[in-house]
Amino acid sequence: MGQKSKEKTWWKESVVYQIYPRSFQDSNGDGIGDLQGIIRRLPYLQWLGIDVIWLSPIFQSPNDDNGYDISDYQAIMNEFGTMEDFDELLRQAHEHGLKIMLDLVVNHSSDEHAWFMESRKSKENPYRDYYIWREGKDGKEPNNWGGSFGGSAWKKDETTGEYYLHTFSPKQPDLNWDNKKLREEVFSMMRWWLDKGVDGFRMDVINMISKVPGLPDGEKHGGQYGDFTPYVMNGPHVHEYLQEMNKEVLSKYDVITVGEAPAVTVEQAKQYVGFDADELNMVFQFEHMCVDEGPYGKWTKNPLDLVNLKNVLSKWQTGLDGIGWNSLYWNNHDQPRIVSRWGNDGEYHDKSAKMLGTCLHLLQGTPYIYQGEEIGMTNVEFSSISQYRDIECLNQYKDFVEQIGMNPEEAFARIQKSSRDNARTPMQWNGEANGGFTEGTPWIEANPNYTQFNVEIQRKDKDSVLHYYRKLIRFRKEHLIVIYGTYESLLPKDPQVFAYKRKYQDQELYVLCNFSKESIPVVIPGFTEMKENLVLWNDTRWIPGELSPYEARVYLI
Ligand code: NOJ
Repeated sequence: MGQKSKEKTWWKESVVYQIYPRSFQDSNGDGIGDLQGIIRRLPYLQWLGIDVIWLSPIFQSPNDDNGYDISDYQAIMNEFGTMEDFDELLRQAHEHGLKIMLDLVVNHSSDEHAWFMESRKSKENPYRDYYIWREGKDGKEPNNWGGSFGGSAWKKDETTGEYYLHTFSPKQPDLNWDNKKLREEVFSMMRWWLDKGVDGFRMDVINMISKVPGLPDGEKHGGQYGDFTPYVMNGPHVHEYLQEMNKEVLSKYDVITVGEAPAVTVEQAKQYVGFDADELNMVFQFEHMCVDEGPYGKWTKNPLDLVNLKNVLSKWQTGLDGIGWNSLYWNNHDQPRIVSRWGNDGEYHDKSAKMLGTCLHLLQGTPYIYQGEEIGMTNVEFSSISQYRDIECLNQYKDFVEQIGMNPEEAFARIQKSSRDNARTPMQWNGEANGGFTEGTPWIEANPNYTQFNVEIQRKDKDSVLHYYRKLIRFRKEHLIVIYGTYESLLPKDPQVFAYKRKYQDQELYVLCNFSKESIPVVIPGFTEMKENLVLWNDTRWIPGELSPYEARVYLI
């Protein structure tokens, strides 16, 4: 165990709040959230008690994938404002004691980025090698990989007759990290933002930047295309490139970093986030988000198997303890809303939202709250496919109906449950039109339940989900055990209760969470519940040895 494992650092002690700027707060009535809108809400975030704001991409973009397709890394998206607005946001955030983390999307750029526009001009163009170009094979794509948003991962470009790789949409060509010049461009762009004063980066699919040479065909899991995962994720040079990034950029600043890392295992994660690895502070792993998947992957949402979820999270808790650092999340702009997914968005809405918050925030790691989670925002029940906006779900719906021949009702039901748009409806500030998000027409319809669940109502109500999240955040700040304590899983086989123990110096913290809508007996061997030790609780009637539906109890001893 290296010395760094014991170090106390601000990013371990922080709570991060993710803003999806498009849907957070509109200030000019165009129906799209913007930077001035965020500035207006800084006092709210300060009141909530979070430390760091992660902004989903705010850069110039044709918005094929809502800003995850960047055409200029050093300019602000027109709809969001100007660089002056950004400078003001950064200054005011700092004045409010809040740090700003940007979204670094450098596995790919937009096809409208100047680099790509040059790159496609000719095979000899100096920018050609910034991207991944290949000749076709027998008049077809260079290999069988499917893109993450449907179709092939290759697109033929008529100018030179070659294909370019796009692991996401055809408007998101993959950058070629094997090219040192490209890496240097990215590093100097990062320095430019850090010199401005930003406090860190969330790195989009950063474990995909190094592809296996030869780009071999992927295995087909029933569909038309092969799976690129083994040849794209955690590729041969990814650690070399991240260490270089760390040496050239990150190590020179005091920053927070988290790398999005689909399909990463705990063992692999140690290489990214090990305290002595000199790469990143944290990764976003996906294993716990996949426990309810089925035959259609994320488009099947099976009932939650709690034992499986606990196994996965416990494995990450103990696997990284003393070695690296966990990120903790239930939600982000790509996931359906947690209260609808693993809680109860009807009768037990508030109680289950608080329970889920408790369960997550008291684990070891840095918690991430996604906008609206703190008021228990739910999935949206759109009634027509025309109400959806996300490229991923629109393509998937078409694939289901046209390629697979699924009946449209079933396809629609799958989209409703799993679409990323569940997370992207406007932030619900108050009971006014569109939840106070905009005075215009929102780019995506608001969830009509904004009249019921909104910030204004919940701020006035001390028992609300919002006040509970605020309490959770404060509790972490006041108790080092939450941050630095060790983790032990209790009752790992119990199908309804998620229970664990944290230990730090001479303190112990017991967390008991009922994930079901039944009252159930709970006995922790060797532990006696005492009401005077209760420090966090989402109920009013205390019955030792029994948890009411979705009850969460936390004892500090
Ligand atoms: C992961 C991001 O979170 C997601 O929103 C995006 O579509 C893909 N990466 C591609 O950038």
